[in-house]
Amino acid sequence: MRLLGISGSPSQGSRTTRLIQQVLDAAAQQADVETELLEVVSSGAILCDGRPPEAYEGETRRVIDQVVAADAYVVGSPMYRGSYTGSFKNLFDLLPNDALAGKVVGLIATGGSDHHFLALEHQLRPLLSFFRAHTVPGTVYGQNAHFTQSGLTQETQAACQSLAQEIVRLSRAVTPGQAGPAYPSIVRRPDQRPPSSSIGTGET
Ligand SMILES: Cc1cc2nc3c(=O)[nH]c(=O)nc-3n(C[C@H](O)[C@H](O)[C@H](O)COP(=O)(O)O)c2cc1C
Repeated sequence: MRLLGISGSPSQGSRTTRLIQQVLDAAAQQADVETELLEVVSSGAILCDGRPPEAYEGETRRVIDQVVAADAYVVGSPMYRGSYTGSFKNLFDLLPNDALAGKVVGLIATGGSDHHFLALEHQLRPLLSFFRAHTVPGTVYGQNAHFTQSGLTQETQAACQSLAQEIVRLSRAVTPGQAGPAYPSIVRRPDQRPPSSSIGTGET
């Protein structure tokens, strides 16, 4: 199982990335789990410009392919203005609609206080629902009090461990690609229709 961590933080020494790495390290303790980390800001992916996902090249192509190839995910973003960062959203704008279909995703967010904890439910989870992913019901939210000089509070470490276990357990129970009815096909730009092979499959 390839578990990909995706961090939407633009900060050096990101707390969000620290939580994601904690989940990756916990998951890697389990047999057959390989982990990798994608930090979207340093990935080299460009801003989505409206072309179909298959038309991107270079680093952006590599990033899209890396996400598509993974079997499961732990994704996280700092709260910016009560939601995920623009760079986090940009990655999802680049992906084909079916990139995450039927795959398991764990959700993480960090913020300056508890104030935006529920953005996990009304911002991050609906974004993943668009992709017909299975999101783990429980989430990890870290605010200032959950980070210590040397690391994380025990409670936060335990939350990351629990999220890792559930991502792996659920992933073993589902079949990537099997996610019920397809999302309606969306033409990104009327002057750039997707290849005929992808029309009606929700590929854009
Ligand atoms: C532009 C900006 C907007 C922010 N907006 C919020 C916010 O709406 N709610 C919140 O709790 N924290 C907010 N914060 C604080 C960050 O979410 C918090 O410091 C976070 O843990 C940073 O994560 P990072 O270290 O992974 O970058 C904001 C920070 C910045 C720079």
